[in-house]
Amino acid sequence: MRIFSGIQPTGSKHLGNYIGAITQYVAGQERGEALFCIVDLHATTMPYDPVELRRSLYDLTALLLAAGLDPKRCILFRQADVMEHTELCWLLCSVTELGRLQRMHQFRDKSTTQRELVSAGLLFYPVLQAADVLAYRATEVPVGEDQREHLELMRDVARRFNARFGGGDEVLVVPEHRIPEVGARIMDLQDPTKKMSTTGGSEQGTVYVLDEPKVIEKKFKSAVTDSGSEVRRAPEKPGVSNLIEILAAVRGVAPEAVEGELAGARYGELKAAVAAAVIDYLRPVAERYGDLRSDEAALESILADGAERARKIAGETLGDVRERMGVGARRAGRPS
Ligand code: TYM
Repeated sequence: MRIFSGIQPTGSKHLGNYIGAITQYVAGQERGEALFCIVDLHATTMPYDPVELRRSLYDLTALLLAAGLDPKRCILFRQADVMEHTELCWLLCSVTELGRLQRMHQFRDKSTTQRELVSAGLLFYPVLQAADVLAYRATEVPVGEDQREHLELMRDVARRFNARFGGGDEVLVVPEHRIPEVGARIMDLQDPTKKMSTTGGSEQGTVYVLDEPKVIEKKFKSAVTDSGSEVRRAPEKPGVSNLIEILAAVRGVAPEAVEGELAGARYGELKAAVAAAVIDYLRPVAERYGDLRSDEAALESILADGAERARKIAGETLGDVRERMGVGARRAGRPS
């Protein structure tokens, strides 16, 4: 089994990223050969500051290591260090339907809310994401719920490529997504009908992994709940449902267990319990982060080593893809 996932080095990472994705990465490195990519090229598709991008790339590298990624057990690297990603992106464009890209939710949402230039990069974002995964012939992609559409596109692109150029072979592997049962979509604490997010959410409703315990407590205390008083999940109770789900995820139990334990409790007690659990859950990460972040040379060397290992795998795939597509020089030893 080969596991691959990517994460953007933009803004501070929040509890949704942590529960929905990062904890799955850490578990993934125990289950198979795992690659995790910090996707700096994807971050250039929205307005950004180059100096800030470099800084937040190191922030994220330190955070992933603090969360438990171990360079001895996985390959952690920076996307732009492995040029095969951009080459494969271009090659995959030949089997990607333009209309499909224009209909993608992320493109529609981001292109309509953006006042500045809507870059072509935003439209091609999902093709680069497909290239990220397909370059490694990964079988499994751990992600949160919001990436489902990107995964579907990626699977279609792989199938189309194989049908058009594979000659009956599975040159590219069609990957499966791995979306967690609990915590796949953590919602904003102030507006629980919206997902927690660095770009679209509210500051007060977004819990950052590196928030101080006091700040975390305050954010949970002021979380929006719903009418009624019962601690149980229901479609008309998005605020309470979200808090139950967060508590279940950080404790590693089923949401039903939380509902059972807090049956008869008030909303205030639920909020206090979630705040305490999240503070305990994130505290060791923040501590390790402090130690790791200051040594940029060490972070750089981990990324460089990861890129070298990643390049070897991606290079082989690209060799096959080029050969099948008839681009570039023919590989030595191949019949004409
Ligand atoms: P990004 O950087 O926005 O998010 C990283 C991961 O966090 C998950 N996530 C959430 N999970 C639960 N609740 C939330 N509120 C929440 N918000 C974010 C995301 O689902 C994601 O798994 N396009 C990707 C990056 C990417 C990628 C890839 C992913 C580039 N190439 C290849 C997988 C495979 C993105 O923007 O993730």
